[in-house]
Amino acid sequence: SKKISIAIDGPAAAGKSTIAKMVAKSLNYTYIDTGAMYRCVAYYALLKNVDVTDEQAVSMLLKDIDIRMFPDGTIQLNREDVTSAIRENEVSMGASVVSQYGAVRSFLVEKQREMAQGGGVILDGRDIGTVVLKDAELKIYQVASIECRALRRHKENLQRGIDSDLAAIQEEIAMRDQQDMTRAISPLKKADDAIEIDTSDMTLEEVVARVMQLVEERI
Ligand code: C5P
Repeated sequence: SKKISIAIDGPAAAGKSTIAKMVAKSLNYTYIDTGAMYRCVAYYALLKNVDVTDEQAVSMLLKDIDIRMFPDGTIQLNREDVTSAIRENEVSMGASVVSQYGAVRSFLVEKQREMAQGGGVILDGRDIGTVVLKDAELKIYQVASIECRALRRHKENLQRGIDSDLAAIQEEIAMRDQQDMTRAISPLKKADDAIEIDTSDMTLEEVVARVMQLVEERI
């Protein structure tokens, strides 16, 4: 069967990466977490004490940033393992700020297209179906109510033993969505040819089954 490209876009904490990982595993495809790349840029700026709201200063850092992603999910920034460090709240908010910059986006989009070459890939993010892989054979726009997304993230944190405040999470998610949907370059939106899946009342297994059915129709 042919190796297609799959794009999964949607708002923050909609479960995109969980679904993408499960689908990638079952198809033996490569999963590419593009949000992690924006997080790496924000993390590096914070590390270097560069103000994330300073577009020029952040853009200057790009030449010093080497991001590597491994099949086991490990993410390295300049050879340092940043897999869990980039999940911090401050980095999430920072990622949403630096992702507004043209230089940051073109730097990362180029890498993403390189990694996606040849198909057999599943990318999740905000602009995969609209910009990065406009020709993807399957585009999913995965959504869920804000209450649902906040609660899932809250439970996930508690399970991982991370301190968690449900109201704060909901506020952070809402702020990021607002910022991501209203930015000038590549704002988050559903591609015209994307299939929307509202996962609010679906189990993980149901979502995976739905995506797998859509894949089967295309391979
Ligand atoms: O997906 P994740 O929540 O890890 O993404 C972090 C931030 O990176 C998002 O809030 C968004 O601002 C940015 N992002 C983006 N385009 C992508 C993936 C992520 O702008 N393709």
